[in-house]
Amino acid sequence: MTNDGLALATRGLQKRFGTRPALAGLDLSVPSGVVYGFLGPNGAGKTTTMRLLTGLIHPDAGTIEVLGRSFGRADRHRLFEVGALIESPSFYPYLSGRDNLRALAATGAPTGPGRIEELLELVGLRERGKDKVQTYSLGMKQRLGIAAALLSDPRLLLLDEPANGLDPAGIVAMRETLRHLAAQGKTVFVSSHVLGEVQQLADVIGIIAAGRLVREGPIDQLLLGEGAVRIRVELAEVDAARTALVPLVGDAMVEAIAGDDGWLAVHIAATRASEVNRALAQAGIYASALEAGNDLESLFLELTRGEAGASHEGTFFGLAGSNDAPPPRSGAADASTGGPS
Ligand SMILES: Nc1ncnc2c1ncn2[C@@H]1O[C@H](COP(=O)(O)OP(=O)(O)OP(=O)(O)O)[C@@H](O)[C@H]1O
Ligand SMILES: [Mg+2]
Repeated sequence: MTNDGLALATRGLQKRFGTRPALAGLDLSVPSGVVYGFLGPNGAGKTTTMRLLTGLIHPDAGTIEVLGRSFGRADRHRLFEVGALIESPSFYPYLSGRDNLRALAATGAPTGPGRIEELLELVGLRERGKDKVQTYSLGMKQRLGIAAALLSDPRLLLLDEPANGLDPAGIVAMRETLRHLAAQGKTVFVSSHVLGEVQQLADVIGIIAAGRLVREGPIDQLLLGEGAVRIRVELAEVDAARTALVPLVGDAMVEAIAGDDGWLAVHIAATRASEVNRALAQAGIYASALEAGNDLESLFLELTRGEAGASHEGTFFGLAGSNDAPPPRSGAADASTGGPS
């Protein structure tokens, strides 16, 4: 395959652990020189994808292309072009932060003099660089992990939940650092649960659920196109609600959201939510919940609603406007989540 202009591409990537599929044919297209936000509920397959992309584990099927060339079992040496931070980084606890970076530099790609001091400064660890890593806080270890990933000045950076354990100032600093790297033409592939953060950080996002891509594209475009009002009606009234709304938005613009729980997405600007409400009321239907908005959280919930119920995440993200428990897991992403099948 050739994927011009892409820093990273996967096609049909599959990975199962025992009988459970973690990735069920994942197709990602990550353009060069962008910050790509990789999103999905707990267990969706983000870390598995990152581990496959760095050769820590191998796919059961599918292909990976890194920086324009196919990446296979024998290609781990090419990882000098790629910096990665996956799960909690491992360091020698009895060595200082600085010495850990030196040890990594000694085994990795050549780094210029002063690089380690520059990175300690960048991640705000210059003062603590001489202290043993075992004395670091969670956020300090995470900062050191980011420094380690940047050591070889990679063209592609893979970061799995880099905001883990970072305080607000650390998150702002990380965002500035990652934006700066993208401005230099590097590609940053970053998974995150902090949707507001991703909305500020990423140029392009990919959302996965149950090991498949459900949506991918420039964030501005996705949020624009997804302008949606979500309503919940009695199950028995779903068809009548659809009929009542079609004159307002057209046939294709009312769709059931994953799960048989009466949620419908109406593709209409959030500012027209009251028109939706009125059309329903005129048909004698009263929604038990109505949400409007085209922020990333709404989009994420809409696309992964059937999945988020599998974990506590449904509660963490909150189902605004709904007092009910999150719907049960619907299994694989189905057609209504927009995923390719
Ligand atoms: N080593 C493993 N052995 C067995 N199952 C695994 C293993 N690693 C991952 N899985 C399973 O694969 C699926 C995807 O896990 P993964 O860690 O990739 O999710 P994730 O998207 O990173 O989730 P989180 O948001 O919680 O970090 C889950 O069902 C998980 O239980
Ligand atoms: Mg993970």
